[in-house]
Amino acid sequence: MTSNPYQDNRGNKDRSIGNPKGAGEIPYRKGGAAKPGRDGTPFLIGENMTAGYGKGPDILHDCTIAAEKGEIAVIVGPNGAGKSTGMKALFGMLDMRSGSVMLDGEDITALSPQDRVVKGMGFVPQTNNIFTSMTVEENLEMGAFIRTDDFADTMTQIYDLFPILKDKRYQAAGELSGGQRQQVAVGRALMTQPKVLMLDEPTAGVSPIVMDELFDRIIDVARTGIPILMVEQNARQALEIADKGYVLVQGANGHTGTGKELLANPEVRQSFLGG
Ligand SMILES: Nc1ncnc2c1ncn2[C@@H]1O[C@H](COP(=O)(O)OP(=O)(O)OP(=O)(O)O)[C@@H](O)[C@H]1O
Ligand SMILES: [Mg+2]
Repeated sequence: MTSNPYQDNRGNKDRSIGNPKGAGEIPYRKGGAAKPGRDGTPFLIGENMTAGYGKGPDILHDCTIAAEKGEIAVIVGPNGAGKSTGMKALFGMLDMRSGSVMLDGEDITALSPQDRVVKGMGFVPQTNNIFTSMTVEENLEMGAFIRTDDFADTMTQIYDLFPILKDKRYQAAGELSGGQRQQVAVGRALMTQPKVLMLDEPTAGVSPIVMDELFDRIIDVARTGIPILMVEQNARQALEIADKGYVLVQGANGHTGTGKELLANPEVRQSFLGG
C-alpha cells in the first residue's frame, strides 16, 4: 500500500467533475475577497523561508513564494524539490529557521496552523486530505469547524460548485473516485470561507480529463477573488492557467515568472517540461 490515498485511482475516467451550471457562488468572506494586500505587499507571501523538519537539515533555502488576490500561483519542480515543504512552511506546520509569512499585511509567522485557518488560510494537503470513513457531508461539516455561524449557505455553494458531491453527500468519502475525493478535499477547505486557498497537487492520480475539469473549478474559485497557491506535477498544464509560476529546485527558487514566461523559457522547458 502507498501512503497516497489517490494513487489507486490513477487514470480513472471520472467525468463527474463537470459543472454544467457554471460555478455558482463561491464561498468567500464578505469584504474579504477583492482588496489588494493591506500595505501593497502580496496578499500571501512566504519570504526568504529557510526551514527543515525537526533537527534535520534545511530543506527550504531562502525560498520566497507569494500569491496575489484573484491570481493562481503555481509551484512546480521535481520530486523532493521541497514543494510540499514550502506549503507546510506557509501553513505553519514546521518551524521556520529564518524568513516570514505575511497574510493580508499581517505577520503570521508565529501562528499555529489552526490560528492561520482562523486568519483565512484554507489548505488541502497532498495526502490524507479527507476523512474516508465519514460521509461527504460530514467531511464538509468538519471543514466548518471554526465557524460559529450558520454554514448551510456555504455548503449549498459547494454543492453548486461540485454537483456530484450533492448526489453523494450521504456516501462514505472513501468510496468516491480520486477526482471526487479531491472535490471533497477542496470543498472541505472552502467551508471556512478562506481568503486564500492552498492546494498541494489537487490533480494527483486523476485522468487528464478530470484534471482539466478540476482546473476549471479552481479557475472558478480564483475568479471570485480568492488567491490560489497550488503545487502541481502536471507542470505544463498548470503553468498554462497560472498567473505566476515558481520552479523550485532543491528547496530554492529556481525560476520565477508568469506562467507564459516560464512556458517560453528554454531552460525551464528543457529541464522541467520535457523540452
Ligand atoms: N516529514 C518529513 N520529515 C523529514 N524530511 C521530510 C519530511 N517530509 C519531506 N521531507 C524531505 O524534504 C524534502 C522535500 O520533500 P517535499 O515533500 O517537500 O518535496 P516535494 O517537492 O513536495 O516532492 P513531491 O513532488 O514528491 O511531492 C525531501 O528530501 C524529503 O525527504
Ligand atoms: Mg509534495
